[in-house]
Amino acid sequence: MVRRAGCPVLGGSFFGQSGLSMPFPPSAIVATASEASPSATMSTAAALAPLFTLRRIRLRHNPPFMADKPRVFSGIRATGDKTLGNYSGGYRQYAATQESGDAFFCIVDLHSITTPIEPADLREYTLSGAAMLFATGLDPERSTVFAQSHVVAHAEAAWLLSAATSFGELRRMTQFKEKSEGQDFVSAGLFGYPVLMAGDILLYQTEIVPIGDDQRQHLELTRDVAERFNQRYGDTFTIPRGVYPEEGARIKNLQEPERLMSTTRGAPQGVVRMVDEPDVVRKKFKTAVTDSETEVRHVPETKPGISNLLEIMSVATGETVADLEKRYAGSGYGQFKVDVGEAVVALLAPIQERYRELRADERELQRLLAVGAEKARNASEPTLEAMYDRMGFVKPEAGRFFGAARPRGL
Ligand code: TYM
Repeated sequence: MVRRAGCPVLGGSFFGQSGLSMPFPPSAIVATASEASPSATMSTAAALAPLFTLRRIRLRHNPPFMADKPRVFSGIRATGDKTLGNYSGGYRQYAATQESGDAFFCIVDLHSITTPIEPADLREYTLSGAAMLFATGLDPERSTVFAQSHVVAHAEAAWLLSAATSFGELRRMTQFKEKSEGQDFVSAGLFGYPVLMAGDILLYQTEIVPIGDDQRQHLELTRDVAERFNQRYGDTFTIPRGVYPEEGARIKNLQEPERLMSTTRGAPQGVVRMVDEPDVVRKKFKTAVTDSETEVRHVPETKPGISNLLEIMSVATGETVADLEKRYAGSGYGQFKVDVGEAVVALLAPIQERYRELRADERELQRLLAVGAEKARNASEPTLEAMYDRMGFVKPEAGRFFGAARPRGL
């Protein structure tokens, strides 16, 4: 079945006018006022307001790109089933920020091959990743959703930017250290991963990057690389900044509340997957690790398990952590854990229903990705061209071929 955006399904609009009704308002998302002072936060509206003025000033001497709304970009890897952590730092932020900017969301399949992955799995996770982006509220009419490998500018930008990124900077990346630790084979791609990510962001003259806290260091590196490139070759890139959720910027594993919830590391029983059956979700919350006290309070240093559950409950219901602490004062952990499980089941149920329908229609997914890739190629081309030009590359007589426009065999 070929479905177009806006078709009524499930008793409502799939990608309709109001989009997916999210359990939190866009104002629940906060942006860092500057990456240099990551503790400073402000509401999205306040964060976005000055950008319109800034853009006009910057564009006078930064011509490769022009748009009316602030540009938003984020990426998500096609590796494994996605988690509640991805929902908190990723999906729900994407759906919220698409309302306020000219938004691009990318399934970063080129990043997926930096750690071992079977070809069949890469294919599956790329398509299921696209289905999940739409199921969690991205509207293909409003947002550009595409696969990274469909826009060759990303690979080219990474190579060009590697000239402005130092070995020392990459060696300091926490994610590289964690992912390479104890591995027999560490790919060169894993080391260069943040350069590819910098290219993703900078190619689109991005101002806003909605991400979780684990990506903060990569975003800071992107800013440094952009500034260095601008200094060396002249103003070329907008300097992007991260947008992090106020609650749930770093959701932890339910069994090991000191470590990030992730499908690649940590106890599987503590990882809530977006596609987990309701009973599996309930069980994971019932068996979540807490502490020897009884008070439901948010104290991450001494009560990491309960604090994590409070944040998850806040993400699932939209209630603040402070209100939840009041509601559960004196009630003990047992009921609280059951309630968090139920709240997550209720959050995931409609998403899973939409996801199953979307994933079953592979042709439509491919069509939507093709539409997204075309838009992404057009949007990234001027910046890539400016990069080549400013770095001194000789322009080919016949012009450069970008993406799908490149004839096969060339
Ligand atoms: P990835 O695929 O690991 O995760 C996608 C998004 O989910 C967030 N996230 C979390 N947020 C809160 N709690 C958690 N436990 C949790 N786990 C994951 C991540 O912060 C991310 O926002 N390098 C990126 C992909 C990428 C990208 C980009 C992101 C490539 N290019 C350009 C932004 C812009 C990554 O591996 O995300």
